[in-house]
Amino acid sequence: MRNMPVQEKKPTETKPSFDISALLAEREAERYGLHTRHMNEMMVKVLQTIGFDVGFRSGHGQYLFDRAGDRYLDLLSGWGVFAIGRNHPVLRETLKSVLASDLPNLVQMDVSALAGLLAERLLSFVPYLDKVFFVNSGAEAVEAAIKFARRATGRSGIVYCSHAFHGLSYGALSLNGDAIFREGFGPTLPDCAEVPFSDLAALEKALSRRDVAAFIVEPIQGKGVNIPDDLYLRGAQALCRKYGTLFVADEIQTGLGRTGRFLAIEHWGVEPDMVLIAKALSGGHVPVGAVLTRKAVFEKVFYRMDRAVVHGSTFAKNDLAMAAGLATLEVIESERLIQNAAHTGARLIAFFQDLSQRYELVKSVRGKGLMIGVEFGPPRSLKLKAAWTLLETVNAGLFCQPLTIPLIKDHKILVQVAGHASHTVKLLPSLVINDADCEWIERAFAAVVADSHKVPGAVWSLGKTLADQALKARAS
Ligand SMILES: Cc1ncc(COP(=O)(O)O)c(C=O)c1O
Repeated sequence: MRNMPVQEKKPTETKPSFDISALLAEREAERYGLHTRHMNEMMVKVLQTIGFDVGFRSGHGQYLFDRAGDRYLDLLSGWGVFAIGRNHPVLRETLKSVLASDLPNLVQMDVSALAGLLAERLLSFVPYLDKVFFVNSGAEAVEAAIKFARRATGRSGIVYCSHAFHGLSYGALSLNGDAIFREGFGPTLPDCAEVPFSDLAALEKALSRRDVAAFIVEPIQGKGVNIPDDLYLRGAQALCRKYGTLFVADEIQTGLGRTGRFLAIEHWGVEPDMVLIAKALSGGHVPVGAVLTRKAVFEKVFYRMDRAVVHGSTFAKNDLAMAAGLATLEVIESERLIQNAAHTGARLIAFFQDLSQRYELVKSVRGKGLMIGVEFGPPRSLKLKAAWTLLETVNAGLFCQPLTIPLIKDHKILVQVAGHASHTVKLLPSLVINDADCEWIERAFAAVVADSHKVPGAVWSLGKTLADQALKARAS
C-alpha cells in the first residue's frame, strides 16, 4: 500500500508532571551537601575556605543575587561565557521560541538551517575565512584544530606557548603550558612542543624543521592575562607562512568582543588560518564552539563523500546551541557591547595604573577591553616584606587569595586569581557593565589594596589563616 500523507498532529498541552521549580525550592539549600556526597568535595572545601559558599539564587546581567536578595558584581562571568550577561531576555525568548517551534533538530541525515545561518553570521565578522565547523566546547574546538592541521599539512607537530591554556581533553591538554594540569595524566599527545610566549626566535627554531602542522596561540593568554609584544603575532604569522605551518588563534576566551574588538587578533592586524571560538557564543545557556577556517584546510579534511562524517560530534549543531549563538551575536551588535568593553575597560585599566603608582604591592596592570590582570609583587618596605615572605614561602601566589576574600565578603565582588601560583588578580566581567559598576569596582579595590598595605591588618591575618590551613593540609 502506498504511504498516505498524514496530517502533522500537534501535541496537546498538558500540565507537566515534573516540576523542576518545586524540586529546586525544596532542595536548593542542600547544594553543598549534595556536592560533598556525590561530586567534587574538594571544590566545596575551596569555596568554603575562600568564602565563596554564598549559595547564589539568581543572576541577571552582570549581577548575582544571594538568598537574602543582596546583589553581587560578578567579575568571573562563568569563566567568560556571560559576555551578554546572565539570562538576557533576547537569548531567553530565542530559546523559548525554538523549543515552542517543534523543529526536527539533529536529524543528522539532513542539514540544519540554523547552523547554516550561524556559520554565515560568524564568517561575516571574519571575512578572510570561509568555513565553519561547530563543536560543543572550547576543548573540542582545539581537538578539531589539531586534527584539521595534521590532515591538511601531512605533518604531526603542534607548537604551543608556555603558560598556554587550551582546555583539558587529551589533545588540548597536550598543549597546556602549565605542568600542574598534566601531572599524573600522561602520556599526552606526541610531537607537541612548547615555546616561550612572545619569543619569535624560539618560534622560528621550532618551525624551521618544517615538521610542524600548527602553531596555536591565545592572542592574550587567559592564565596570567599575558599580552605579547606588539610585533609578536605579526611575526608569528610570517614565520608560519614561511615554514608551511598553519597559524591558529585560540580566541575561546578573548573572542566576541571581550578585548574591545570582535577578535583580539584585530588589535594586531593578523589573519590566522584557523580561529577558535566557544564560551561567549553560548550566551551562557547552551554549550557551543566553532572552528573558523580557510577553505583549503577544510577541504583537505572533507574532500570525498565517504569522508563527509570523518570528524564530528552528535550534539554539535543542535538547534538550541545554534539559536543561542545567533541571539548572542545579535545582542553583541545591537547593544554595542564591543564598544562598551573598550570604553569601560580603558577606564578600569587607567584606574589600576593609577593604583600601581600609589601602592608598592601593585606591580603592573595588563589588559585590553574587559580582560584585565592586576599583578601584585614583593614589596620594598621591611614590614610588608616580612609578611609577604611568610605567605609566599608556604605557597607561591598565596598573597592574592586573601585579597579576593574581602572583595566578596565586604564589597560583594567576585573575582579570581589568574592561575596556579599566580600573583595576578583577573577581571573578566560581562561586557554589559556600566560606569556605576566601574565605580563599584574602583571603590572596592581601592579599599582592599589600601588595607593590604597595613601590617598587621585584616588582609594579612586572613593570609596567615590560609597559610596555616595549607600547612595543616600538607601535614595530614
Ligand atoms: C583560551 C582557552 N582555550 C580553550 C579553553 C577550553 O574551553 P572549554 O572549557 O570550553 O573546553 C579555555 C577555557 O577556559 C580557554 O580559556
